[in-house]
Amino acid sequence: MKIDVLTLFPDMFSAVMSESMMWKARERALLDFHVHDIRDHAGNKQRKVDDSPYGGGGGMILKPDVLARAIEAVRSDGDTPVILLSPQGRVLTHQVAAELSRQPHLILVCGRYEGVDERARLLAISDEISIGDYVLTGGELAALVLIDAVVRLIPGVLGADGAQDRDSHADGLLEGPHYTRPPEFRGLGVPEVLTSGHHAEVARWRRQQSLKRTFERRPELLETAPLSEEDHAYLAQLEDGAGD
Ligand code: ADE
Repeated sequence: MKIDVLTLFPDMFSAVMSESMMWKARERALLDFHVHDIRDHAGNKQRKVDDSPYGGGGGMILKPDVLARAIEAVRSDGDTPVILLSPQGRVLTHQVAAELSRQPHLILVCGRYEGVDERARLLAISDEISIGDYVLTGGELAALVLIDAVVRLIPGVLGADGAQDRDSHADGLLEGPHYTRPPEFRGLGVPEVLTSGHHAEVARWRRQQSLKRTFERRPELLETAPLSEEDHAYLAQLEDGAGD
């Protein structure tokens, strides 16, 4: 996958994109990542990219000609998603990340100031994504969150064991608890089933813990998660105050 980011603060990307999984994805050529400074497309000596809003009011607006030029410089064809990070976009979920992870090329536009000129948004932006109902000072951190959530779903980035299929949200549920050595820590043990070596029992326990955690913390997810008859029976036990 190729990702081009357009920003006024290119340095904000270097640390995150040079560490851990994002770096490994780049090293293995699974991710071709580029950051571009919108100011390079200002078209004036002062490198001015914003202006005050028509009609008055506070804040500065990113100019449409500057943004259009910056996008046109990286767009390979008309089908490439051009995504504006903004608090007004559709909310990023696992499903949205999975959908984006299947694209060969993404262009991410980081907004700053009060926003972008509406004409540039209409003409050059194809999608708008928010990472939650709160306001950041700009789209850069949101772009990094989106990149991380998307890139880890590209086949090969996390290794071959399908770890991402077990993630919270991948199957519409939260993951259950995890344990590792030592077998006892400050008076707390490990559930016996996990050391039993009985794979079918372990799988059943994991499924039930996942249902329980979702029931306790995010019950609304149970309305849309695909559930078996056995899952429903276990949830009925939880509703009756039973089930462990
Ligand atoms: N820019 C400012 N706030 C944002 C948010 N919540 N999501 C994405 N981009 C943003």
